[in-house]
Amino acid sequence: MKLDEFLRLNAPEDLAGLTAAIAMASLTVWESIPFKSGLLSEVNPSGETQKAIDVYSNDAFVEALTGTGLASEVASEEMAEPVEAKGGVSVAMDPLDGSSNVDTNNPIGSIFGFYSKKLPTAGKNLTGALYVTYGSMVTLTFSFGKGVHRFVAVRDGGSMGFELLGVNLKLPAKPEVYGFGGARKDWIPPVARFWHSLEERGLRNRYCGTFVGDYNQVLTRGGIFSYPALVNRPRGKLRVLYESAPMAYINQQAGGYASDGEGNILDIAPTELAETSPLYIGSEPLVREVEGDILSEKS
Ligand code: AHG
Ligand code: MN
Ligand code: MN
Repeated sequence: MKLDEFLRLNAPEDLAGLTAAIAMASLTVWESIPFKSGLLSEVNPSGETQKAIDVYSNDAFVEALTGTGLASEVASEEMAEPVEAKGGVSVAMDPLDGSSNVDTNNPIGSIFGFYSKKLPTAGKNLTGALYVTYGSMVTLTFSFGKGVHRFVAVRDGGSMGFELLGVNLKLPAKPEVYGFGGARKDWIPPVARFWHSLEERGLRNRYCGTFVGDYNQVLTRGGIFSYPALVNRPRGKLRVLYESAPMAYINQQAGGYASDGEGNILDIAPTELAETSPLYIGSEPLVREVEGDILSEKS
């Protein structure tokens, strides 16, 4: 089944239009990656040096999203303020996740959250979320509240289109992989202990350095991804609005759970657009276990 047909039958009209626009823009971003990997002199609101692909993808998606007339605003980790528009959906995005991994050709991605309230707002106000994975395939993984579905980019005559790859994706019951970001020496002690226990249980360490790539394999194989609280960085690195909440929404639709180490990521009400939190996401039993370990260390 083609993407447009699936969206017509299964998505609210506004989210269908935004998703179709993201799908086409993602192909433009993907084709530009080899030419846009240089470093720029600018920094983003999180103080990170921007790569040309960060800015190029940001501008491509802003244009595609505002051009639908369906977005009321588009906020991005690459912009200090949202771009205002005339539609009804607040869109928050990480236009290029893992841009530091372009040079090594690791999987990278784009993350989008569709919120029903003005940004910043809590993840429980998400009505849908989508991530693009630029890996051995270009895939769209998304949910509008009725399961998680995946499409893959394929040649369609003289151009590229998206074909259905899977519906109602669920985390498998048996967790197989784990991946933790940051330097092991900097993890808070309960996280370090938990990480070692996963090795003893025979889970496999699979970490590529990109949130989208690292989560994407957890969704398929079961397990846990984390960018944890660090001793010298207790608020972690990943941005709630742009990265963790949209992925937590998809993960929850796939039967999983995502925590900041104290409670559900989707309950966090960020007061700043670029607010970060620790993230533990994947199979619910594992996430609940590490959340419990962190909480009991605090009590
Ligand atoms: P972004 O490129 O959007 O800033 O995201 C990079 C993030 C995330 O993709 C990944 O999990 C994390 O940075 C890796 O951080 P370190 O390089 O500090 O390990
Ligand atoms: Mn990014
Ligand atoms: Mn990112």
